[in-house]
Amino acid sequence: MTTKTLAFHSSRGGTGKTVIATNLATIWANKGLKIALLDLDFRAPSLAGAFSKAIKKQPKYWLNDFISGRCKIEQTLIDVSSTYRLKGKLYLGLANPSIEAIRSTMDKSRAWEVSAVKRLFSMRKTLFKEMNIDYIILDTSPGLQYSSINAVVSSDISIIVTTNDEVDLKGSENLIENLYLELDKKPVVLINKVLPETQLHTNKTEKELINKIENQLKSPIIAAILCYCDVLQAKRTSILAIEKPNHAFVKNLETIAKTLFLTNKLNFEE
Ligand SMILES: Nc1ncnc2c1ncn2[C@@H]1O[C@H](COP(=O)(O)OP(=O)(O)OP(=O)(O)O)[C@@H](O)[C@H]1O
Ligand SMILES: [Mg+2]
Repeated sequence: MTTKTLAFHSSRGGTGKTVIATNLATIWANKGLKIALLDLDFRAPSLAGAFSKAIKKQPKYWLNDFISGRCKIEQTLIDVSSTYRLKGKLYLGLANPSIEAIRSTMDKSRAWEVSAVKRLFSMRKTLFKEMNIDYIILDTSPGLQYSSINAVVSSDISIIVTTNDEVDLKGSENLIENLYLELDKKPVVLINKVLPETQLHTNKTEKELINKIENQLKSPIIAAILCYCDVLQAKRTSILAIEKPNHAFVKNLETIAKTLFLTNKLNFEE
């Protein structure tokens, strides 16, 4: 199997990147794959919170340290596979959530960000070649933060998570035009939090919605996921793929995992 790096990105905040990245990583790891899930959202780190049940003590090194050249990528990784009894492996690389670390990220120069992208490319090599990781999943900040651009640049497939909201869609359109086209990257789009009133999955509305957004964003749509009240209300520390494996949200992500796995095999990028 070829190995791949996926980045979850969005134009606006709160579209579901972290929840989707977290559950997808867990689903794949539970199928026996080796996954590295990395928090590149240095301004609002969230993976430390999502996996707090498995993180017994503060890591010695954060991804911030790796990007700054203070440690090797292997030294940042936390293996959470046994806590969640996963069949494969799930390694986490966390962004430092302390105020000082967030401030320090904001003060970084453009030169630092350019060196950061080089570190990300060397990281890919280490994870794939030395640790035999199957997929690297990058969770990013919304918009045009440097760390997100770096994630997009160093990924094979970038998935823009958008809602069906007009403002989000316009933002995604701008993001694709102003960033992805400039970088000559073709993103795929995941529509999330579709309101149940659209009766998604029950009639031809789903196709219409997908066609409409595909035309607007001129990008392939990988899936449309409904807005589920219980997902919205769930604790940030609960991973649905573990706690409610039969939930429709998880089933949607399993289909997406399969599609990505197959498109990966077919060399989707080309
Ligand atoms: N399909 C869905 N149905 C209902 N709630 C959802 C769905 N997807 C995500 N959510 C909820 O939306 C909220 C925001 O999700 P999440 O934190 O993953 O977004 P994000 O894109 O990572 O945000 P940020 O840009 O701030 O990092 C969470 O409470 C999450 O549980
Ligand atoms: Mg997030």
